[in-house]
This record gives sequence, C-alpha cells and structure tokens, in this order.
Amino acid sequence: MPALKHCGLELDTVSDAVDDVNVLKGKLWDSESEFDSSKDKTAFRQYDNACERVKAFYKEQHEKQTVAFNIQARVDFKSRERARMSIWEAMQKLDTLVDDSDPDTNLSQIEHLLQTAEAIRRDGKPEWMQVTGLIHDLGKLLHFYGSKGQWDVVGDTFVVGCAFSDKNIYPETFAGNPDFGDAVYSTECGIYEPHCGLDNVMMSWGHDEYLYHVVKDQSTLPDEALAMIRYHSFYPWHREDAYMHLTNAKDMKALEAVRAFNPYDLYSKSDEPCDVEKLRPYYEGLIAKFFPAELKW
Ligand SMILES: [Fe+2]
Ligand SMILES: [Fe+2]
Repeated sequence: MPALKHCGLELDTVSDAVDDVNVLKGKLWDSESEFDSSKDKTAFRQYDNACERVKAFYKEQHEKQTVAFNIQARVDFKSRERARMSIWEAMQKLDTLVDDSDPDTNLSQIEHLLQTAEAIRRDGKPEWMQVTGLIHDLGKLLHFYGSKGQWDVVGDTFVVGCAFSDKNIYPETFAGNPDFGDAVYSTECGIYEPHCGLDNVMMSWGHDEYLYHVVKDQSTLPDEALAMIRYHSFYPWHREDAYMHLTNAKDMKALEAVRAFNPYDLYSKSDEPCDVEKLRPYYEGLIAKFFPAELKW
C-alpha cells in the first residue's frame, strides 16, 4: 500500500531528525570546552538544519497532546483488538515502516535496535538490559495501530495535566495547546500531588508509553528496564532535571537507569552495520528468557 509506505518513511524521517537533534544537543552540552573546534561548528549547523523540520513537528505535537487526547489514547489502546506477535515478528514488522530502496533512509529500524543491543552487550551489561535495547523502539508499531500522525508516536515526551515545563524543547509552542490556559492544568502540579511519583502521572502518548503498557504485564523485565522503555524520550526529565516536583524516591533509581541507557540509544547509530541473521539466534535466546512466545500488541 503506497500511502502507508510513504507515511512510514515520513515517520522514520521525523524520528531520525528528532534523534539527530538530541545527539547534537548532547554533544554541544557535554563538550563545552570544545565549542570553538570546527567539529562543533559543524554540529551547530546540522542542528539548525534538523531544527527546521523538527520544530514544525514539535509545534504539532505540543498543540495536540492534551489531557483529553491522552485519556482517549489509553481507552482506545485498552479497547481495540490487539494483534498477536512474537518480539522478533514485531521487529520485522517495524522494519517494513520504510521502503528499503529509498536512498535517503538512514538506518533501518531493526539495525537501530540491534546496534543498541550490541553496544550494551559489548560493554558487558546484563542480559535484561541487552534485550531492553533490542526492543526499546518497538512501540513505533503504534504507526500500524491507529496513530493519528507522527506526533503521537515519536519525539521527546513530557507530562500532561500540569504546567508544561520550559525545559521542554521549543516550550513556546505549548501556547497553542488547549490545556495551556486551563485553570488546573496550567498550575505547577496540576492534577497531581507534589512528589506523587511518575507511576502516577500521565506521560504524553507515544512509542515509549505504549511499549511500557505492552511489556509491563507481558515480560519478566525488572523495574529498571521498564523505566528505560517508558522514559527514554523523556529528555526534559533525564537531561534537564525538569518535573522533579512530581518525582519520588523510586524515580531516582529509574532516572539512573534511563541515564545509563541513553548513550546506547543515541550514540550506537554510527557503529558497524549488524548482520541480522547472524545475531538472530543469540537474541531469540534472550527474548525467550524474558517474554512469552507471543505478546498482545
Ligand atoms: Fe525511541
Ligand atoms: Fe531508539
């Protein structure tokens, strides 16, 4: 179906641009002393280019991720017919998002997942973390299950139901969100108690939140893995320390886990290409340790 393919390519392109911006922001902030080097000037330029596309994306995401939308997204998820697939089948399905022959395509989805997992494995991290790297973006399958666009699948995430932090990317674009002027949602804690814990807040709907809901009851992954999945795009929190007025002690452990995971997601993309079929038996073995043969998606 050409329309879907085009749409998938669009999603993949936006998703890559979002990652590029996060990589570049990370580089700029991590290496202040190298600001004058030519490498960083290049980074600035790339950042500006990526920004054009990414800013339009975030404007739409920030305007449409309301409390009402987020409640409906969860109702829809719980009430729809759920496809049944193994983890590996889900990876293969995600890989069909883009036409492989397209010259502009960067990494395929399956390669990004394998490179993330391989980088974690190379560093001698535990099996649960390797398998978390392997699956962390499978929530992008939302694209096939009724997503409304790219804005409810990819991009940095944030909390809805309370004031939008100005540590979010392009914070001025929240002004177009109907919740922005709401008497309750616009207050610092909004509908939440201070330090209620992130388990009790509604994160903006996207691939992180969706996959978290899929695997929390259908895997034996530890809490740290669930945190890596649920918060890997929550940059205002894990990179900027925003939303700390809502977190509790459990979240501090989660934060450590998410920060440990982030470099593998962002910086493994330039690694050597993976041989998918050669790696498959190892990862199928890992998958069998943490997941049933089939999951409901
Ligand atoms: Fe992701
Ligand atoms: Fe990723």
